[in-house]
Amino acid sequence: MYDITEKHELSPNVFLMKVKAPRIARKRKAGQFAILRVRDEGERFPLTLVDSDPDEGTLTLVFQAVGKSTMMLGKLNVGDCLTDLVGPLGKPTHIEKFGHVVCIGGGVGIACVYPIAKAMKEAGNRVTSIISARSKEILTLREEMEATSDELKIATDDGSLGFKGFPTDVLQQMIDAGEKIDLVVTVGPTIMMKFIAGVTRPHNIPTVASLNPIMVDGTGMCGGCRITVGDKTKFVCVDGPEFDAHLVDFDELMSRQKTYVDAEKQAVESLNPKS
Ligand code: NAD
Ligand code: FES
Repeated sequence: MYDITEKHELSPNVFLMKVKAPRIARKRKAGQFAILRVRDEGERFPLTLVDSDPDEGTLTLVFQAVGKSTMMLGKLNVGDCLTDLVGPLGKPTHIEKFGHVVCIGGGVGIACVYPIAKAMKEAGNRVTSIISARSKEILTLREEMEATSDELKIATDDGSLGFKGFPTDVLQQMIDAGEKIDLVVTVGPTIMMKFIAGVTRPHNIPTVASLNPIMVDGTGMCGGCRITVGDKTKFVCVDGPEFDAHLVDFDELMSRQKTYVDAEKQAVESLNPKS
């Protein structure tokens, strides 16, 4: 059992939670994730490990309560506990001094790019971050991203804060202005990562995407997280979660992510039955 020691709502239905898990907190590195189970009969689902405090023995998770399991997690409070928490899983982000690194987080993906931006900055890189959301009310972790970046650029779909448009446009502007970029790291909706790869590909800017496929066991056994990278089959939980974005078959990934949409809808309805 893993005690919840802190919980805040960052924006509507997006929660930050700290969970006591001292052994995982000691080992966690940027880019890794954990698999959780909220209760005994619950499903297993992955969440990025956003931060950890080895002294407190806590992990920080950020999640959007959208599906049945994340909604159940969102209903838990300080003093409640999680049934299972397995991690840290996945390969850590490859961190070194690349030069100028652009970290791009879209929507809930901002929380997942945050530890990467922080580690890249600590390794001596110049970090420009681009964070985006549909609107300013749901843009999360702005201050944290500001603190870990040399420059922070904001884009909102509705123009309520920063640039009106997508992070792809902001990145394109940087490239058009002749900025030298040594690496792009992107985390967010799959469609966004696909288009970020489309922007950097013609300029041969190395680009890494952190993928979020359907996961079940998180140990390479079930095949749920299968993707195609170049001409190779990979399993995100053990080979990733980060891959060369220029080689990922994003269309296949998006199609696989739709597999359980109807089942998920029914599961959410069973949690909140219409009376
Ligand atoms: P969202 O739909 O609100 O989109 C967030 C932002 O992504 C948008 O504001 C926009 O800036 C950008 N975006 C969306 N479509 C785009 C496009 N076609 N081109 C360029 N940019 C685009 O997302 P959300 O509701 O905050 O997040 C939910 C999504 O994020 C889910 O699909 C979830 O799977 C994904 N996610 C992925 C990871 C990961 O590890 N890759 C982590 C957390 C969440
Ligand atoms: Fe089962 Fe990756 S989640 S193989």
